[in-house]
Amino acid sequence: MSIEPFDAVDLIRAKRDGGALSTPQIRWLVDAYTRGYVADAQMSALAMAILLNGMTREEIRDLTLAMVASGERLDFSALGKPTVDKHSTGGVGDKITLPLMPLVASFGVAVPQLSGRGLGHTGGTLDKLESIPGWRATLSNEEIFAQLAGDVGGVICAAGPGLAPADKKLYALRDTTGTVEAIPLIASSIMSKKIAEGTGALVLDVKFGSGAFMHDLDRARELAQTMVELGTDAGVATSALLTDMNTPLGRAIGNANEVREALEVLSGGGPSDVVALTIDLAREMLRLAGRPDADVEAALADGRAMDRWRAFVVAQGGDPDAPLPEPRETHTVQAPASGVVLREDALAFGIAAWRLGAGRARQEDPVVHAAGIELHVKPGDAVTVGQPLFTLAADDPARFDRALEALDGAWEIGEASAAPSAAPLVVERITA
Ligand code: URA
Repeated sequence: MSIEPFDAVDLIRAKRDGGALSTPQIRWLVDAYTRGYVADAQMSALAMAILLNGMTREEIRDLTLAMVASGERLDFSALGKPTVDKHSTGGVGDKITLPLMPLVASFGVAVPQLSGRGLGHTGGTLDKLESIPGWRATLSNEEIFAQLAGDVGGVICAAGPGLAPADKKLYALRDTTGTVEAIPLIASSIMSKKIAEGTGALVLDVKFGSGAFMHDLDRARELAQTMVELGTDAGVATSALLTDMNTPLGRAIGNANEVREALEVLSGGGPSDVVALTIDLAREMLRLAGRPDADVEAALADGRAMDRWRAFVVAQGGDPDAPLPEPRETHTVQAPASGVVLREDALAFGIAAWRLGAGRARQEDPVVHAAGIELHVKPGDAVTVGQPLFTLAADDPARFDRALEALDGAWEIGEASAAPSAAPLVVERITA
């Protein structure tokens, strides 16, 4: 039996008392936790000490790299073209990856978009795509490489179990011990997976507001800066956009309906906020990939992005022309008075969509692809009494009451003079 170089209790005490851990200590900790030598109880005590006392930049970097080293690291250098990915910290109605990947790939830049499934009120990209009949989220590393090298030039698929397994174990533990919210732990968790994925460049969409992980702009900025530093230190060209998530993005919240909205964007239409964010993120990705002059609007308008989308769906077993699932039951809420829509709270609409069946409470639960919400109006729109405001969709009408409960007080109609002035969606750009 080999002798362990450190004792977990000493490390817990050091973090509890506000000290910093050394590089060898962090490397050992992550390795010993992954092999089961450090117990869950010890790791959760340490996670709580980190949540309360923070970590230095060096500690966060060491933790991130130790989690990368716990598994495999993909390498796309043999592709012979730049690679760039986007990560969103998650929001309500956030379907941007769907039009964004084919749009960026249409410029000859490879987009390895390894994604997760949704949990709680924020939807998962893979759940949305799985509403397309036949579409397959699981690809082997060889299939990922071939798709990036070939005519599609992009992939959206499940991150395999081999990427940063230490993070998977630690994230599950944090989820059950009230330690998800620590910025050093969030930043190292997200960035370990992105660094292991092997992308050359990365744009982070860090959301703030009621429907986001970080409600407050200052904390979102701190998270973004931490992740940009981590990526840059690891040799991944990284930048971040801070984006508002107080109101749902676009008009569709769910799965199949979000795919429909993404198709509108790829056809040159779609809601203005979804189009604007897709374009801003595409420009940022292409800038990092060395194509700052790419005309992204033209690629949406002339069908190049749509052609890539269709090729992508086919490559992953889907039928781009197959009808998407339709809901069995709908319930429309009408305006009780005339006026202007003042507010639609992202968190409440996210929870309502989740209760309708669009999201899951446990990682292993299925989602109902046709469930969700369609917003007929957005803040700033004038409405007259009786006009449809939004439509709930579910497979079972018994779900409507709980969804409507979540929406109680979540939207408001008032005088035009009280209407909020249009706030920018992207409030800041953070670079290294
Ligand atoms: N997403 C992750 O991958 N990790 C976190 O810690 C939080 C969000």
